[in-house]
Amino acid sequence: MSQTPIIKVRDVAFPRLQAPDLDRMESFLIDFGMVRAQRTEDTLYMRGVGPAPFVHVTHLGEPGFRGFAFVAGSRDDLEKIAGSEGFSPVEPLESPGGGFRTVTTDPIGLKVEVVFGQEPAQPLDTANPRALNMGTRFERIGAPQRIPRGPSRVKRFGHLQLNAPDPQAMFSWYNARFGLIVSDAVELAPGMPVAIFNRCDRGAEPTDHHTILFSSDMTSGGVPGLNHVSWEVCDIDDVFAGHEHLSAKKRSPEWGIGRHLLGSQVFDYWNDPWGQIHEHWTDGDQFDASVAPGSLGIDQGAASQWGPDMPSSYVRTSARVIS
Ligand SMILES: [Fe+2]
Repeated sequence: MSQTPIIKVRDVAFPRLQAPDLDRMESFLIDFGMVRAQRTEDTLYMRGVGPAPFVHVTHLGEPGFRGFAFVAGSRDDLEKIAGSEGFSPVEPLESPGGGFRTVTTDPIGLKVEVVFGQEPAQPLDTANPRALNMGTRFERIGAPQRIPRGPSRVKRFGHLQLNAPDPQAMFSWYNARFGLIVSDAVELAPGMPVAIFNRCDRGAEPTDHHTILFSSDMTSGGVPGLNHVSWEVCDIDDVFAGHEHLSAKKRSPEWGIGRHLLGSQVFDYWNDPWGQIHEHWTDGDQFDASVAPGSLGIDQGAASQWGPDMPSSYVRTSARVIS
C-alpha cells in the first residue's frame, strides 16, 4: 500500500483555523498556554516556548479549518514538491520567521502547505522538562519541585486528526506526496480501516508515533474536516497544571486527562470558544521507520489505558473545511 513518495516531510509546523473573534481566540489560547507572536487586523499568530516562530494561526472569519503546514527536509525538497502536479510555485511565507512555501489542496478540500526556511525564534527560558525522581532514576537531588500555577507550557505543534469519507484514500494521497508511513490502523474488519495513524519517515531517526490521523467521517455525520489539533507540552506537570488552569478559567473540557493506547501519550482535550478541539499531550511513543505497522479491532483502538471513557461528542468534526 506504500508507494515511492515525491518527498519525505520532517514534521508539521502549524494549523490554520478560522474564528470570528480574534480577541476571544487569543484569550483562549493564552489560557491554553500560548503566547502572541504577531497579530494583524485579520490574523493571529501564537507561539509556544519552543523555537518555532509560531505554532497556531487564526484567520478572521466564520469558524472552520483552512489547513495546515508540513515542514520539508531541505530547500531542494521544497522545490521538488512545488514542481509536482497540483502544487503552487514556491512563494515567500508572509508570517513571523519568514521562509517559503508551496500549497496544494487535499482530497477533502484542505489547503496543505509545505514550508521550509522559517527562522527559528529564541526559545523561552522555560522550555525544559522538569527533573523527576522516579525510584531508580533520581534527576533532582537537593532541590525541591515547585510547579507554578498557571497555563501549560506549550512546546510545539505535534499532530492533527482529520475526518474523511475514505481514510485509506487519504493515506494513499498523503503517502504519495509526503512519504507518511502507517504506525497503526484501527479496522472495522481486516483491510477496512476506520482510523489510520501515520508518522513521518525519518529513516533511522525516531519521530512521533503519529503526525496525522485519518479517521472515518461516518461518526461525524459524513462531515469531513478537522477532529482535533494537538500540541506537545514540556512535561506531565504541564498537562495536569494546565488542566487545572483551564478549569479555573471556566474553559470547556472535551476529554481527559488519560493515556491513549495508540501512541501512548498522556492527553487532555479542550474546546476553543467555537468548539474546535485543541489537545495537550506529553510522553508519546517515538518510532523510527523500521517499526512495522500495527492493527487493532475497532473495539480496542479507541481505548485509553487509563482515564475517563471517550465522550460520544469527541468523534465529531469540530471544524469544517474552509476552502
Ligand atoms: Fe491527538
